[in-house]
Amino acid sequence: MGLSPKHSPRTPTYLFPCVIALSFFSLTGLLLYKVDDVVSRTGTVVGHNLEPTPWHVFPTKPFDEETRQSRAYKIIQCSYLTCRNAVSGGSGRLGYAAGDAKAKAPTCPDFFKAIRRDLEPWMKTRISEGHLAEAQKYAAFRVVIVGGKMFVDWYYACVQSRAMFTVWGLLQLLRKYPGLVPDVDLMFDCMDKPSINKTEHNSKPLPLFRYCTTKEHFDIPFPDWSFWGWSEINIKPWREEFPDIKQGSQAVSWRDRKQLAYWKGNPDVLSPIRTELLNCNDSKAWGAEILRQDWVAAAKSGFKESKLSKQCNHRYKIYAEGYAWSVSLKYILSCGSVTLIITPQYEDFFTRGLIPLQNFIPINPLDLCPSIKRAVDWGNMHPREAEVLGKRGQDYMETLNMDRVYDYMFHLISEYSKLLNFKPTPPSSALEVCAESVLCFADEKQTLFLNSTKVSPSQTPPCTIKYV
Ligand SMILES: *[C@@H]1O[C@H](CO)[C@@H](O)[C@H](O)[C@H]1NC(C)=O
Ligand SMILES: *[C@@H]1O[C@H](CO)[C@@H](O)[C@H](O)[C@H]1NC(C)=O
Ligand SMILES: *[C@@H]1O[C@H](CO)[C@@H](O)[C@H](O)[C@H]1NC(C)=O
Repeated sequence: MGLSPKHSPRTPTYLFPCVIALSFFSLTGLLLYKVDDVVSRTGTVVGHNLEPTPWHVFPTKPFDEETRQSRAYKIIQCSYLTCRNAVSGGSGRLGYAAGDAKAKAPTCPDFFKAIRRDLEPWMKTRISEGHLAEAQKYAAFRVVIVGGKMFVDWYYACVQSRAMFTVWGLLQLLRKYPGLVPDVDLMFDCMDKPSINKTEHNSKPLPLFRYCTTKEHFDIPFPDWSFWGWSEINIKPWREEFPDIKQGSQAVSWRDRKQLAYWKGNPDVLSPIRTELLNCNDSKAWGAEILRQDWVAAAKSGFKESKLSKQCNHRYKIYAEGYAWSVSLKYILSCGSVTLIITPQYEDFFTRGLIPLQNFIPINPLDLCPSIKRAVDWGNMHPREAEVLGKRGQDYMETLNMDRVYDYMFHLISEYSKLLNFKPTPPSSALEVCAESVLCFADEKQTLFLNSTKVSPSQTPPCTIKYV
């Protein structure tokens, strides 16, 4: 007797679709939840999911993407999928052969010797994972280079596009010298003020890279982001900006320039010396012309008025530190005017090569206006010497071309890497970054700057440092 249809188990034609649908939805739900979770924990080169550095808070910028979904898509796409398919990176070949006689290494500028001084604190102790773990408390991100690939672990966001251009610079270094950059593990803070005070960290110096240092700090100076461009205020990459300024400076010969000392900048950056400088704004009494740079107005007018190449019309130009060191020094020196440097507290990697009365005139911050006046009077009395001094400042900046900037990075990283007493490996939380993944996050202007600073494998070896 056959089973009556009434008693047969429920037909699978109902069951399977239900089960399948149910598992599909829960799987999708789980997947979406997982994706959401991953997305919200992924730091990026433009600062997604990152707080500003607590030691220097700044307003975070809004992101371009309009919706949550488009943001999630971008983060997944740029951070997880892009480098996998990328072809670039440090895997190319050097443009010269080892025994190539034409590929003679140039000699590095003298100031490269400062690298050894900067790393002196770790010569005996070397650098352990413990050092890095402690330095992490002061870092915005960690860079690990292994086998020519670069990994970044993000801790905090950096103001504006500093992180993007700094990471880009490192990636270009890997492209320029494929196979030469050693494995390395380093902590980086991208804000202005040095933080590893020599007194406080006397018993255990911590290695931390940033854009400047002082005599009282262990912080290790590294070329700042603006060498690759400062898109927010329209300062082009150094490769273009220096020739522009130099050309602009030739429009007015030194003799025909105003016989005054000129400064234009932002005095509202908690810089006592800039505030004081405003008091010297008197062309008769102090021979100085001090102007306020209004970046908001400049942005509105498309930065036409603030073009650096049009600011070489004075015989003397003043450099005053801002909140810490200021990127403006390299542009001021590039004019070929006599640079009056108000004796600074901070130094960056290249300022250690400047020589007083050779390529600049030091100005006493404790006797500010009279000291400026004396320099201006001297120059106007000795125009020939003053003109030569100004030219030497410009020559100094011309020597510091991008090849030398990369060489400085190369030597610093190489010397630092020798001090590590462990084998660098990317932490599990770090993600690979590559040129494509950085470009993936870049806006229009940034893309333009990044594009124009791409390098190819070098035709010559890095410069050599002559220690004697
Ligand atoms: C370093 O720390 C010491 C001790 O706390 C302090 O007196 C000194 O002013 C600090 N130096 C700098 C440059 O901040
Ligand atoms: C400096 O003086 C000039 C001329 O008197 C003036 O135009 C300019 O606004 C002054 N600069 C500042 C920062 O006040
Ligand atoms: C960047 O460069 C590439 C190749 O050189 C070019 O195809 C692309 O259009 C450039 N992008 C921009 C925004 O300039």
